[in-house]
Amino acid sequence: MSANAELRKLTTPQDLFQAAAEELIHAAEKAVTERGRFTIALSGGSTPRNLYTLIAANASSSLPWNQMFFFFGDERHVPPDSPDSNFRMANESLLSKVPIPVENIFRVPAENPDALAAAGAYEKTVKGFFALPAGEFPHFDLILLGMGPDGHTASLFPETAALQEKSRLVVANWVEKLNTYRITFTLPLINAAWRVMFLVSGIDKAPALHEVFDGKEPGEKYPSKLVHPADGNLIWLADRAAASELSAAA
Ligand code: 6PG
Repeated sequence: MSANAELRKLTTPQDLFQAAAEELIHAAEKAVTERGRFTIALSGGSTPRNLYTLIAANASSSLPWNQMFFFFGDERHVPPDSPDSNFRMANESLLSKVPIPVENIFRVPAENPDALAAAGAYEKTVKGFFALPAGEFPHFDLILLGMGPDGHTASLFPETAALQEKSRLVVANWVEKLNTYRITFTLPLINAAWRVMFLVSGIDKAPALHEVFDGKEPGEKYPSKLVHPADGNLIWLADRAAASELSAAA
């Protein structure tokens, strides 16, 4: 594992979410102290819901919400009130439950029937917020990621076009096996983060996690392998079930 990468094996899912909550809170407090703000990209799917619920329950009054800015590392191509929406999940479990100014929340305009336009608009939002010169990638303080049983992360699915993207920040990625577009951060944007934290829970993730840490398959087949923050830290949090096929060396 590279020098700036860390794997922490927790026992139960609750231990995992508690550890993740502590990491997120520490990252937020550190960023606000050092840089006056905390920028985070949330992950979607089902795993992080428990983390977001824990943060809402335990840190609602202690975190500097006015100085925290929430983005989404990926989004399904659905409206924000869809049961499949990552925004809806995060809003129900966290954002609607804490005193964060609405202007500090940047959701993907995935209700746009034109997924490419939605991705372009979101990329413009990210560029506008960070106000960087053209060609520079913003450094999020923290990007949360999950991993699918196929090794995908964000909406970077195996052998999809977005894996080859080198200059865009956000793209619409056609996912053949789902027969749909997804809007996703690109690898260059993810790998520009100061800190990336994977949250992996459950036995169904064990084969892919074994492949990521111990296997020889190319990253195109297991995109989570392609996440290596250039100047930031990478931390994997996995519960016992997800880590059950890892070699002792991992
Ligand atoms: C999404 C996520 C995706 C997710 C993995 C794991 O939009 O679904 O961003 O990358 O993190 O698919 O999902 P689960 O946590 O539901 O297993």
